Amino acid sequence: MPAFVIVGAQWGDEGKGKIVHYMSRGADFVVRYQGGNNAGHTVVFDGKKFALHLIPSGILFPRVRNVIGNGLVVSPQAFVDEVRMLESRGVKVRGRLQLSLGAHVILPYHIILDTLREEGGRGIGTTKKGIGPCYEDKVARIGIRICDYLEPETFRGLVKQNLRVRAAELSKVKPLKAIADDVFRDYDRLRRFLAPFCADTSALLGAALAKKKRVLLESAQGAMLDLDFGTYPFVTSSNPISGGACTGAGIAPSAIEGVMGVTKAYTTRVGLGPFPTELEGRVGSYIREVGKEYGTTTGRARRIGWLDLPQLRAAIRVSGINSLAMTKLDTLANIHPIKVCVAYRYQGKRLDVFPVSRRAQLDVEPVYQTFPGFSGDLSGAKRMSDLPVSARGYVEQVERWLKVPVSIVSVGQSRDQTIVRDKRFIWA
Ligand code: IMP
Repeated sequence: MPAFVIVGAQWGDEGKGKIVHYMSRGADFVVRYQGGNNAGHTVVFDGKKFALHLIPSGILFPRVRNVIGNGLVVSPQAFVDEVRMLESRGVKVRGRLQLSLGAHVILPYHIILDTLREEGGRGIGTTKKGIGPCYEDKVARIGIRICDYLEPETFRGLVKQNLRVRAAELSKVKPLKAIADDVFRDYDRLRRFLAPFCADTSALLGAALAKKKRVLLESAQGAMLDLDFGTYPFVTSSNPISGGACTGAGIAPSAIEGVMGVTKAYTTRVGLGPFPTELEGRVGSYIREVGKEYGTTTGRARRIGWLDLPQLRAAIRVSGINSLAMTKLDTLANIHPIKVCVAYRYQGKRLDVFPVSRRAQLDVEPVYQTFPGFSGDLSGAKRMSDLPVSARGYVEQVERWLKVPVSIVSVGQSRDQTIVRDKRFIWA
């Protein structure tokens, strides 16, 4: 059963876009299974840079078909903008992109609610794209799906109902009539644009898998932003872990033959919340500047920290990761020494497992092991033997500690800056 999942193994922004793009060449389908346009992938292809938020990066390979699964929350306007952006740059999208009829629709009032919460004293540093409030509606069973959006009568009735439910909060910002006008202003145009893309994508993927087509499933965000296993409540509102691929794409667990986790050679996070290995000071600023650690979606400066093994072990466990891609090894060049968190200390004891409690997640102290750094420009390395000995040693030691092969090492944004160490897990 040829389905393969690529997940973020940290707090998102691990460089999944590049790895998914790399693997897409060998895929028939590339599928997003959760999140929305809170995500941001920067992909460099044929020397051109593409920033994608919603559409899988498989769209850049003409042979590959792409699916936005039922697990996503989709802003019709963001969808249209991204399709148009791709088309204006010569990418053929129509006939190669399907949007699930079961995905939920983000409407302007979800963005108002997200912003209200962020600015109302209980913010967690969201992207303010309306993601959380849209998923809230889904769980409250008042959500509006793409199939509802395509039926004008149904859509109007549901919007009316939802504005009534949210009236107390929304009317603080503007009159409900004005909010409804925002929803309906471009509705007909957007609905007509979306309609030809919409399909029962679970059925489509089921048929593809039955014919032994290769289906690559990609997460947005990362394990530590998972609603169930992340640093709750500082998480996104969906499940980036590999289990989310089943519920968010409508495929069975038995279809999945492998899970690759993507991790940076260090750690970053955006937004608020626990971050045990966070670095303040010169080294953190240096990594941020050299690694261009600013959000693709919001432009926010990312928080920086050392690699965290208890955190990665949690990601490996919950997603069943059986190979890793390590990105941005080149960014660590010229830092002496490099540290890796091998365990935590908590309440006077050693802790090897990432804790569940929010207090413990904040209070754990990292136990570090120190590595000699490495110097020089790694960005031209094509194979492991091109890397400085201590850079190689760093990758090999991490692999030994985690007991999972590091199949890919990435030393730059473009496709040729990718070292493949273990072909068994590669579809390129
Ligand atoms: P939301 O997904 O906009 O609700 O934001 C919830 C949390 O997830 C915040 O900490 C965001 O910064 C974080 N987040 C959402 N999308 C991404 C992403 O693509 N990369 C990194 N962090 C993200």
